[in-house]
Amino acid sequence: MSPRRVLVTGGAGFIGSRLAAQLRARGDEVVVLDDLSTGRREKLPEGARLIVGDVRDGAALEAALEGVEVVFHLAARVSIRGSIEGFRDDHDVNLGGTLALLAALPGSAVRRVVYASSMAVYADSPDGARVGEEHPTRPLSPYGVSKLASEHYLRVMGPRLGVEHVSLRYFNTWGPGQELTPYVGVATIFVNALLDGRTPTLFGDGAQTRDFVFVDDVARATLRAGEAPLGEPVLNVGTGRGTTVRALLEQIADALGVPPRAERAPARPEELRHSVADPTRIERALGVGDWAPLDLAPLVAHWREHRPPDRR
Ligand code: NAD
Ligand code: UD1
Repeated sequence: MSPRRVLVTGGAGFIGSRLAAQLRARGDEVVVLDDLSTGRREKLPEGARLIVGDVRDGAALEAALEGVEVVFHLAARVSIRGSIEGFRDDHDVNLGGTLALLAALPGSAVRRVVYASSMAVYADSPDGARVGEEHPTRPLSPYGVSKLASEHYLRVMGPRLGVEHVSLRYFNTWGPGQELTPYVGVATIFVNALLDGRTPTLFGDGAQTRDFVFVDDVARATLRAGEAPLGEPVLNVGTGRGTTVRALLEQIADALGVPPRAERAPARPEELRHSVADPTRIERALGVGDWAPLDLAPLVAHWREHRPPDRR
């Protein structure tokens, strides 16, 4: 496991910064390319070099790729619900970013690209069964379309560009360090709403299921995908355990000692009803597993400490 120079696009973000920290702990030289649109400089681990720039910018990419052997491509617009109104921007950043990266590879030292895809590429699983990588893809959101298109470009162009590649389909990633916006993950939204004394909104009946996977486990699987022998072009990153959104709300309310109240809003047509990973393939391929349970008390404690002073 010799140290390498690696690039993390989106490395100032929620998942990317945890990945950057694990790569630094492994001894790698870490370059981060991030436009700081949602990422933050303070999240970077010590020793990581930040290039502030857009992943679609060829000159920024060229500078960031100098001497790099492995690229972890996480820079993206990450909102499923936000990708309806912003479908054109979503496409520009998510697919455009992947294409710009691929176009910048010739002449570089890159031998592997690890891509942060999403469960949003899948068709719904009407019976709520766990989805394996062979489950049909039929994205419901522009975001899912951009992620699936990126996977396909990587599959088609990777071999022609002489790079190994793998697309990791992350399921719902939770943990401290996600920035609070109306579009972020549901656990972050619910914790902050209840801490502020606001009533959270439940889309649909709350019986939709999600596979909540801890951010450091996602980072660990991503790190492993950058170093392990690769045989699979696509791997799920999830725990195999489903939780309903209502049960999530109840767990958070319980951790806060408040009632699990919620306002109801219509279900969102761009969202899957059920989304639970079958993690068999990644556990075998990368030797990961032992996924952390969904334990919301530490997330509540984190937000109690880190809320802006005017909201405490
Ligand atoms: P995030 O918003 O915290 O991270 C994205 C990072 O990319 C940010 O730091 C942002 O500043 C940066 N970025 C955005 N546009 C950019 C651009 N044009 N040029 C350079 N940098 C840019 O979100 P995250 O949750 O850490 O997501 C990381 C990756 O994982 C994304 O590709 C996302 O689609 C994917 N993913 C996330 C989840 C999840 O549940 N959080 C699940 C599935 C897939
Ligand atoms: C999240 C990620 C996305 C990723 C996907 C993969 C973010 C912003 N989005 O999307 O990048 O590709 O996981 O797993 O991190 N809900 C409510 N009320 C709310 C917010 C959400 O009821 O206020 C419900 C939603 O309707 C949905 C569930 O909670 O059923 C999960 O929503 P969310 O955490 O936003 O995740 P995804 O949309 O699945």
